[in-house]
Amino acid sequence: HSARLAIDPSFVVGPVRRGTFGSFVEHLGRCVYTGIYEPGHPTADENGFRGDVLDLVREMGVSTVRYPGGNFVSGYRWEDGVGPREERPTRLDLAWHSIETNEFGLNEFMAWTQASGTTPMMAVNLGTRGIAEALDLLEYANHPGGTELSDLRRKHGVEEPHAIQLWCLGNEMDGPWQLGHKTAEEYGRLATETARAMRQLDPNVVLVACGSSGSGMPTFGEWERTVLTEAYDEVDMISAHAYYREEDDLGSFLASAVDMDYFVASVAATVDAVGVARKSPKKIAISFDEWNVWYHQEEDPIKASGGRWDKAPRLEEDVYTVADAVVVGNLLISLLRNTDRVHSASQAQLVNALAPIATEPGGPAWRQTTFHPFALTSRHAAGEVLRVAIDSPGYENKRFGSSDLVDAVTTWDADGSALTVFVVNRAQDAATRVEVPVGAFGDVEVVEALTLANDDHHWRASAEDSTSVLPKPNTTARVEAGTVSIELPPVSWTVLRLR
Ligand code: AHR
Repeated sequence: HSARLAIDPSFVVGPVRRGTFGSFVEHLGRCVYTGIYEPGHPTADENGFRGDVLDLVREMGVSTVRYPGGNFVSGYRWEDGVGPREERPTRLDLAWHSIETNEFGLNEFMAWTQASGTTPMMAVNLGTRGIAEALDLLEYANHPGGTELSDLRRKHGVEEPHAIQLWCLGNEMDGPWQLGHKTAEEYGRLATETARAMRQLDPNVVLVACGSSGSGMPTFGEWERTVLTEAYDEVDMISAHAYYREEDDLGSFLASAVDMDYFVASVAATVDAVGVARKSPKKIAISFDEWNVWYHQEEDPIKASGGRWDKAPRLEEDVYTVADAVVVGNLLISLLRNTDRVHSASQAQLVNALAPIATEPGGPAWRQTTFHPFALTSRHAAGEVLRVAIDSPGYENKRFGSSDLVDAVTTWDADGSALTVFVVNRAQDAATRVEVPVGAFGDVEVVEALTLANDDHHWRASAEDSTSVLPKPNTTARVEAGTVSIELPPVSWTVLRLR
């Protein structure tokens, strides 16, 4: 196969946002306990934070981290997780049918964000709770002192306010599985009133309203319209969540980014229609704050727990294939391509639960296949995102009809003279040769090309072998007469760095 990409430095979509490379730590399974936090682990620091996991999080280039849920937040009492550990209550976590000991809470998470060099995205509980508790949490976290709750934080050893800026107004409130699930009207009112109150306390907050928990939800579209008809003036972003998985048809799965593009375009159109009706100059951005490949997405938590109430059970521990990693890389291509609208994104999740990082209690931490495209995209996307006109052969698949064999995005950092192409080959039968005329960028040379692929598209990393399939130098990349060419193996993800 062969394909051609047309790029030009003046085709700017928008800036590369660090916020695109966010992740998510939920009190779910072993994401927190024996994931990021495991006192007594050989690599743990004085706070009990696993050093091996911290190293991998830094290597991955994670920016913001959403916390503490997820479905968990809709039953969470934030105050259970602060103050002396021995006084913290043990509770039932209804979302994941687990026991929550509250050993790890707000102040530990904030210390962990400092240790990992990440910034927090905090969610308030609008399931079993409301405005008053959201305000209490905001006062505890962000008010300097001199009030009961801010002084309580200081008493708990945190003198300076956390200054948390980014807040989610609940989680997936459109989903019937959500504790305190609401209609769009009910949620729209609650989100509006909570947002207004939070801004009265701290005008610096950036607020995300819940959009649909998937584009397949029966209320998708109508939910966004109704919520924003109430909340338009009070919020900055609306959330989008999407999970993909390989079913019987690898071709459809490899084209998952087509759905993500469609999802972003549909949410943008819906929220803009609300803006037009209100004659508002304001644009609501999208926070794509849950996205990933996830195989256990329909599993009932009660069944998954075997009916037991365990602490940190093994839940949602997907083991990812090379094809999954190609899709993750392609979803990042989609998020970057939509940088004009998607201002924040979080891969769900960070450790163990549907995650790029896996750990064993007391044992090693390792990179899943999906770690690599995330880490390399976060490291090398810089400057501005350029629109790419793709001229690619198509292939038939069940879900989308015909999809392009090749998908790509480009970033251009004029200051550092770095031109970077992120590209996937979805062909299963053969390599695809890709040509990119780069004359408009002056004299260009190849700095590096790395490709993730394997003859067995379903190879998975494990504690025993996480290194035999890694992104490898692609030696076919060359520049001739102002055109870059590269050969992409079947089912592959590539970063091509040019200067
Ligand atoms: O990321 C796992 C779960 O997926 C989250 O808790 C929930 O928000 C979504 O349904």
